[in-house]
Amino acid sequence: MRIGILGTGHVARALAAGWSRAGHDIVLGSRRPEDTELLTELKELLDAGVRVEDPAGATAHAEVLVNATPGTASVGLLTSIGAPALAGKMLLDVAVGFLEEGSPPPLSHLVVSLGEEIQQAFPQTPVVKTLCTIDSTVMIAPESLAGPSTVFLSGDDAEAKRTVSGLLADLGWPRESLLDLGGIATARGQEHYALLFVGIAGAIGSYGFGIRVVPPAASAS
Ligand SMILES: NC(=O)c1ccc[n+]([C@@H]2O[C@H](COP(=O)([O-])OP(=O)(O)OC[C@H]3O[C@@H](n4cnc5c(N)ncnc54)[C@H](OP(=O)(O)O)[C@@H]3O)[C@@H](O)[C@H]2O)c1
Repeated sequence: MRIGILGTGHVARALAAGWSRAGHDIVLGSRRPEDTELLTELKELLDAGVRVEDPAGATAHAEVLVNATPGTASVGLLTSIGAPALAGKMLLDVAVGFLEEGSPPPLSHLVVSLGEEIQQAFPQTPVVKTLCTIDSTVMIAPESLAGPSTVFLSGDDAEAKRTVSGLLADLGWPRESLLDLGGIATARGQEHYALLFVGIAGAIGSYGFGIRVVPPAASAS
């Protein structure tokens, strides 16, 4: 599948490595695609066949476009790419908006989630929010966890969620780990979980953890 990834940070690099290994055709979308320092940092990915273009180029390449940019900058970046260029693409949104540094940092989207804001701004681009509850290192290595963990999906478009579920499987996430929360409004919970994520990471001294939804015992359901 042709995947464009907006951003070249922790998440973008991890997902590019994971999906490239799985045989997907990846273009990273950077504001500085010719920056030699950036290209040096990305050497391993470039050697694996990943390419770097500007955000418009990555979007043009994509069947699925991944938003791996700071949540406070995402809508501005997508707006600069433009609704016509985004129309018909599926958008996998990993981003969370933080206003400033802090522990935990304040969220930028307190009432309407970033996922919903993007969906409202680009109605021709089905948005699926996922992976934002997991550290980038774990996103592509579910086997690094001591046991099964849950990955959430939020989105209004069933086909887009099916496609994203397939891409999660390609990263190693078993089907039974995926939990479809419902429409894009449920992205609010995923984004707000970032606050609990920071608290758990502080308590256990690691970002490399997962969480698991444990259903009631059959006798209690
Ligand atoms: N890190 C994690 O483990 C993790 C986990 C879950 C969710 N998230 C969310 O995923 C998103 C990406 O996280 P990350 O850790 O990969 O962030 P990051 O390392 O800071 O990378 C963000 C990338 O976005 C691009 N970008 C585009 N517009 C930007 C702007 N105005 N200001 C700064 N960067 C801009 C930059 O690439 P160019 O300079 O090449 O344009 C930058 O490398 C964030 O929304 C974060 O909250 C992160």
